[in-house]
Amino acid sequence: MEKKLKGIILAGGMGTRLFPLTRVTNKHLLPVGRKPMIMHCVDKLAGAGISEIMVVTGPEHMGAIVNLLGSGKDYNCHFTYRVQDEAGGIAQALGLCAAFVNTDHCCVILGDNIFTAPLTSYVQRFREVRDGAMILLKRVPDPGRYGVAELSADKKRVLAIVEKPKQPKSDYAVTGIYFYDASVFAVIRTLKPSGRGELEITDVNNDYIRRQTLLWDELPGEWTDAGTFESLLKANELMARAEQDHA
Ligand code: DAU
Repeated sequence: MEKKLKGIILAGGMGTRLFPLTRVTNKHLLPVGRKPMIMHCVDKLAGAGISEIMVVTGPEHMGAIVNLLGSGKDYNCHFTYRVQDEAGGIAQALGLCAAFVNTDHCCVILGDNIFTAPLTSYVQRFREVRDGAMILLKRVPDPGRYGVAELSADKKRVLAIVEKPKQPKSDYAVTGIYFYDASVFAVIRTLKPSGRGELEITDVNNDYIRRQTLLWDELPGEWTDAGTFESLLKANELMARAEQDHA
């Protein structure tokens, strides 16, 4: 039987790498192409037929995010909001969504990920998965900036993921688009903060690898995060091109 899939957009964090752009606003409200960054994630989830979406952000700019997105009726969606008190990591932010997801599956997008491919086919595929997780990988020239996946020789399985490795084992970056069953919340409860003091999503994904239930696929089209000045510029160029193509 197909599982129900809920959407989650993680838009917390301090955005310190973009100071002073983020001194008085949230990173995910900065412009990317013709829209505030976070609206691209909403478009992707809504475009894939996901109508129940939780948005997590810090207390400082929750008001502005709610002002921007509203109830969700403009997108034929229903938004639920959750405050992450401190930037304790991506996995901590996801942990706040346990009651919202309940026993369903979820598709999680990091609010600073900008990409061109639709999510429809992955959402469809994961609805049919009974238990486990799925990540989307993208080959990049600078893997050391990301979580990096080591693949088996036949490329069927992910053997391990290392967060920002000094010596990457491949050029497959883990994008900020994740699919999880509800067991993710039990995993998050077991996590300890990393060296940078955060609950790491990479530790979550490695737990699925240990249980041999992590699927992967390659994200086609263009992808970038937008958390640094260089990548924010790249995100803008990428979206300007994509929007022009659809004008
Ligand atoms: O973009 C993909 C990369 O994102 C992955 O390859 C990495 O494995 C993953 O750890 C993450 O790396 P970053 O260092 O880029 O994550 P960053 O701290 O910039 O956070 C990315 C988004 O996650 C941010 O835009 C909002 C959300 N976030 C982050 C933190 C730390 C939260 O909602 N709460 C948080 O506490």
